[in-house]
Amino acid sequence: MADFEALKQESRVFQPPAEFVRNANISGMETYQAMCAEAERDYEGFWAKLARETLEWHKPFTKTLNESDAPFYRWFEDGQLNVSYNCLDRNLQNGNADKVAIIFEADDGGSTNVTYRQLHQKVCQFANALKSMGIKRGDRVVIYMPMTVEGVVAMQACARIGATHSVVFGGFSAKSLQERIIDAGAVAVVTADEQSRGGKHLPLKAIVDEALEMGGCEGVKNVVVYQRTHAQVKMVPGRDRTMSDVVAGQPDTCEPEWVDAEHPLFILYTSGSTGKPKGVQHASGGYLLWAALTMKWTFDIKPTDVFWCTADIGWVTGHSYVAYGPLAVGGTQIVFEGIPTYPNAGRFWDMIQKHKATIFYTAPTAIRSLIKAADADPATHPSKYDLSSLRLLGSVGEPINPEAWMWYYRNVGGERCPIVDTFWQTETGGHMITPLPGATPLVPGSCTLPLPGIMAAIVDETGHDLPNGQGGILVVKRPWPSMIRTIWNDPERFKKSYFPPELGGTLYLAGDGSVRNKDTGYFTITGRIDDVLNVSGHRLGTMEIESALVANPLVAEAAVVGRPDDTTGEAICAFVVLKRSRPTGEEAKQIARDLRDWVGKEIGPIAKPKEIRFGDNLPKTRSGKIMRRLLRVLAKGEDITQDVSTLENPAILDQLKQAQ
Ligand code: WT7
Repeated sequence: MADFEALKQESRVFQPPAEFVRNANISGMETYQAMCAEAERDYEGFWAKLARETLEWHKPFTKTLNESDAPFYRWFEDGQLNVSYNCLDRNLQNGNADKVAIIFEADDGGSTNVTYRQLHQKVCQFANALKSMGIKRGDRVVIYMPMTVEGVVAMQACARIGATHSVVFGGFSAKSLQERIIDAGAVAVVTADEQSRGGKHLPLKAIVDEALEMGGCEGVKNVVVYQRTHAQVKMVPGRDRTMSDVVAGQPDTCEPEWVDAEHPLFILYTSGSTGKPKGVQHASGGYLLWAALTMKWTFDIKPTDVFWCTADIGWVTGHSYVAYGPLAVGGTQIVFEGIPTYPNAGRFWDMIQKHKATIFYTAPTAIRSLIKAADADPATHPSKYDLSSLRLLGSVGEPINPEAWMWYYRNVGGERCPIVDTFWQTETGGHMITPLPGATPLVPGSCTLPLPGIMAAIVDETGHDLPNGQGGILVVKRPWPSMIRTIWNDPERFKKSYFPPELGGTLYLAGDGSVRNKDTGYFTITGRIDDVLNVSGHRLGTMEIESALVANPLVAEAAVVGRPDDTTGEAICAFVVLKRSRPTGEEAKQIARDLRDWVGKEIGPIAKPKEIRFGDNLPKTRSGKIMRRLLRVLAKGEDITQDVSTLENPAILDQLKQAQ
């Protein structure tokens, strides 16, 4: 969580380096302001021009924005294109065929280069293989893959044939996978035998088997297994085949399926305030436009850059800034299979040095854990490596505290690289509020200003604008091309969650609190205003974890809250009432361990509570509502100073005060 008091007093300002300003794709604040003014003056014209310049259209669009069915906005709707064609074929035609598209570094340190020509061939072959299985435009394919070239190939191949992919992060359990397969109505799953991370092998195929055996997944007719480690895995005859088998003999060209701009490119599940994850649906044209443009604007990408986004393809960051954005602009990027701390905490710095990365984009959690590691083992400190190739740094996924920002700026960026602190969400498709490295003066801990065309604002509970300096609710006032189109299977929830009537029904509600600086208008994100937690940059719903806990036969009731954590940003703290009497001592420890494992099985290891406290009851109002506000105070280890007179059972607070 951002140290909000410290941010308010933050006065360090870092101007963009002169050399950067000279060469930047967006150079100087005047250019930025002129672009914003252009969008204000002629909103549709602004986007139409960019969409024509940035993408190649099979059939040009004539309508830019259709608002007739708001908030189900449609962009470039009579245009047709193919996302994979834009990412690959275009590069074969414009002289990038032999350029390295992906530098793949495996967990064990080995690396291989894949050119645009080779990537195109792989994607075409796999696209043909999918077609040969009868998979066609509009079908949903679930991808449960490690960070590998093949993961990107699977996504691009779906895009090529117009199938809608839904990537599920490898850290989700069989049960979570099953729920997503069912909700998406998937006809196929693409996976790997195992995932290799930090020297450990994790069984992906076995988890897929378990998910499919849970039932409800009868629609899945094909499972393709990429043999990453060549471990022995069960292969169900007639359903399962290896990736090398299915591509064998397939032609290495594949005519792209031209789809409407609004055709669903992907569904990505993310947590909301209720128990069930939401299938965020993105369109093809508007999404790719923003992935490509933000590569140029925020990352200032140039033909000679070596771009590295460390995010997994299981998250939206890995969609926009690994699988699509870098390819759409003909960039060279690093794809990394492993983890930042293996074989030691110098891994990132070693890789930057080895591959001469110029742009590096990672999460505050990673930075904070590497700061700690470098303190403990100076050999892993960035100063021990040659990081002079870097020219730009980025941060994403959660607020970055000014201390971590300064460390990153000094030790990784050598005080010469701007840091782009990019605020955005699964739902926004790409960056929303971020510095432009050749224009925006930086203030540690602030994501600064909205990108041109993004009408971000801060309002009160009734949707009215608040003046700078006053904290409120972050909204976006106009639709933008890469925004979420709907929640898969649940248009009503889409409307209610993102365009709530209380705010007037036309403002996009991000779900975050924010405040703008009185003088600069700079935005600072103050954290979620709903029941969503951000743990190590992973988004989790408190209700989701509570549902998982109460599904355990021992548990009568559970309440989950977040508390600030130095490394992970937030940590999960669960208050649990068992059906039997309240356990203490060793027994409490054992049950807590069992419940953590249970949550790991229900949702995934990322959702395991850091702490579990047991009580005879939970603090409730007389009408039976759990007072989570009080639990948050207890979780932090602070004393309750609020009025507790409305509480049915104030004595329970003492019991829940102690960590067990
Ligand atoms: C939530 C979205 C952004 C893609 C990865 C996460 C938080 C994200 C920042 C930032 C402060 C941030 C917000 C947001 N968040 N970036 N730069 N500063 N907070 O996507 O899983 O959809 O999570 O992450 O709370 O709503 P996500």
